[in-house]
Amino acid sequence: MKIFVPQDMAAVAVGANRVAAAIEAEARARNIPVTIVRNGSRGLFWLEPLVEVATASGRIGYRNIGDADVAGLFEARFFDGAPHEKCVGHVEEIPFLARQTRFTFGRAGIIDPLSLEDYRHHGGYKGLEAALSIGPAATVAAVKESGLRGRGGAGFPTGIKWETVARAPADRKYVVCNADEGDSGTFADRLIMEADPFMLIEGMTIAGVAVGATKGYVYIRSEYPLAIRMMRRAIEIAERAGYLGKGINGSAHDFDLEVRVGAGAYVCGEETSLLESLEGKRGQVRPKPPLPAIEGLFGRPTIINNTISLASVPFILAEGAKRYAEMGYGRSRGTMPVQLAGNVKHGGLFECAFGVTLGELVNDIGGGTASGRPVKAVQAGGPLGAYFPVSMFDTPYDYEAFAKRDGLIGHGGLVVFDDTADMAQMARFAMEFCALESCGKCTPCRIGSTRGVETFDRIRAGIEPETNLALVRDLCETMKFGSLCALGGFTPYPVLSAINHFPEEFRAPKLPAA
Ligand code: NAI
Ligand code: SF4
Repeated sequence: MKIFVPQDMAAVAVGANRVAAAIEAEARARNIPVTIVRNGSRGLFWLEPLVEVATASGRIGYRNIGDADVAGLFEARFFDGAPHEKCVGHVEEIPFLARQTRFTFGRAGIIDPLSLEDYRHHGGYKGLEAALSIGPAATVAAVKESGLRGRGGAGFPTGIKWETVARAPADRKYVVCNADEGDSGTFADRLIMEADPFMLIEGMTIAGVAVGATKGYVYIRSEYPLAIRMMRRAIEIAERAGYLGKGINGSAHDFDLEVRVGAGAYVCGEETSLLESLEGKRGQVRPKPPLPAIEGLFGRPTIINNTISLASVPFILAEGAKRYAEMGYGRSRGTMPVQLAGNVKHGGLFECAFGVTLGELVNDIGGGTASGRPVKAVQAGGPLGAYFPVSMFDTPYDYEAFAKRDGLIGHGGLVVFDDTADMAQMARFAMEFCALESCGKCTPCRIGSTRGVETFDRIRAGIEPETNLALVRDLCETMKFGSLCALGGFTPYPVLSAINHFPEEFRAPKLPAA
């Protein structure tokens, strides 16, 4: 009998490794033959460790299992899917999962992440086979037709980026995967690498075939040790099976892949600093143009895409661009893995078509706050994203609709706050974050953010709040239009949204004068 215990870092953080060891020991002591599969997470983090058993009628789940629960589970014969106070029934029927459209995360938590056989059995490598049979130009055309836009945050059409690289003449081209997932409250890249690493490898290989690149790099943040190990092992397995290296899958295309590890700088998630870092230099932003698509890694045309953009490609090639493009809202086509985090009851990953409202995501799907207090605001799009108050929860999840309301979807993170959140403190934090993470290349960001922190300290001490708030607005204008990259340029989003939607919180003194 098969028992699934996630090895995902979110599950490990709440004891999944101890649970796996306890199940193994208990099974041995009772002489019950079990096979423990360390799967990835389904993304229902509030239920972790979520132990599943395979039964004739499907997978049955047991939530929040600790090592102390294991003997009782065996007593209740959980390995047969028997009832238990922690049984959640058929996992696929849990409403949070049943309501999703899992185009990209369809295998997450289901397969053994490092079993190529399991991957293939669940549709893996069909996308690459399709790309090899239709050829590079039709592959680029399919990605364009799907409407896929960059899931790192900027939402630039992926197919157009690929076309630019495909057309650029060069002796060598590269594919780079940006897995430096630094946005607060986001974990979609990590979940893919830990749950379904071959899909990312397949997506990158398709990109290589499409544009004629023979070498790829996965740039992973050092804070993701398991994802790094999983990707390295999956690459070795794919190489041995002929899916990477010379003549991939029996074709005329060569494609090699390597993992490179970042060193903890948020700005290395910005594509040009990432390329500098990959080249072994200090992670500083390069001015654009030239675009990486024309002059990227080592001066060669480079596809640099976010993990989720690349991981979305195998489905598009395997199932057809039309099927992907049919889902969505306005110009936001396909699905988005929304990541619910912060003070939320049901934290986790929810993949759905664009168009669902912010209120549905936070209240219906997320279940409101974990504290049980009223929701006050949601920060959408990471530390550089705007705060949306409850009065704006009718906003559809869509790149353009968010932009119209001075916000951004970013990489799909939603961090929920209850009514105890101090918005003046959050605005100050945005400036402080920018000051700490600034690469220092341009003045509005490097100096502006530090001045921003000082000005907020004066406001919070009650010193000429109106004059100092006007100064902050002026500073935000300079940072927004004068910064070289999104770090300085987008810091005004959280700052101004906090000031505009919660003006009363910037009037009362909160701190003694420094
Ligand atoms: P951008 O708008 O400058 O560029 C978007 C992408 O399109 C880039 O790859 C760029 O090279 C490419 N591009 C633009 N014009 C092109 C053309 N004509 N042909 C081919 N390619 C073209 O945005 P940027 O600065 O790359 O990213 C900003 C975003 O990053 C923000 O929206 C923010 O949400 C997000 N972000 C994400 C983080 C994460 O953890 N995933 C962290 C921090 C920011
Ligand atoms: Fe560097 Fe900040 Fe300027 Fe970006 S905005 S280039 S992080 S100093």
